[in-house]
Amino acid sequence: MITFILNNKEVSTALSPGTPVLDFVRYHQYLTGTKIGCREGDCGACTVLVGDLTTGELRYRSATSCLMPLGNAHGKHIVTIEGLNMAELNSVQQAMADESATQCGFCTPASWFQWPDFA
Ligand code: FES
Repeated sequence: MITFILNNKEVSTALSPGTPVLDFVRYHQYLTGTKIGCREGDCGACTVLVGDLTTGELRYRSATSCLMPLGNAHGKHIVTIEGLNMAELNSVQQAMADESATQCGFCTPASWFQWPDFA
């Protein structure tokens, strides 16, 4: 059984550990904010944050969920775009909103995760 925290809830699954995290969040958790683009790790449309407890501190890094096997999520905190739950936009998000800087539906969620506030 693979168990981890997805956004703000603990999830467990008996799916194959080789299942891409992307497929799990979209098709089993119905979190469709994580997009499918290339499925080869190139476009970033499927970016999620992966929180890992290292040396007593929770550290986050971005990951392409199309290349991340579900087994690698065990014991971690996976954050999708739906899980940001911020009270307000950060400076990059606000600038994008102010300037109507919408990228395509694939790029915008991924680029928001790239900002250091989320690292
Ligand atoms: S779908 Fe393009 S990097 Fe994952």
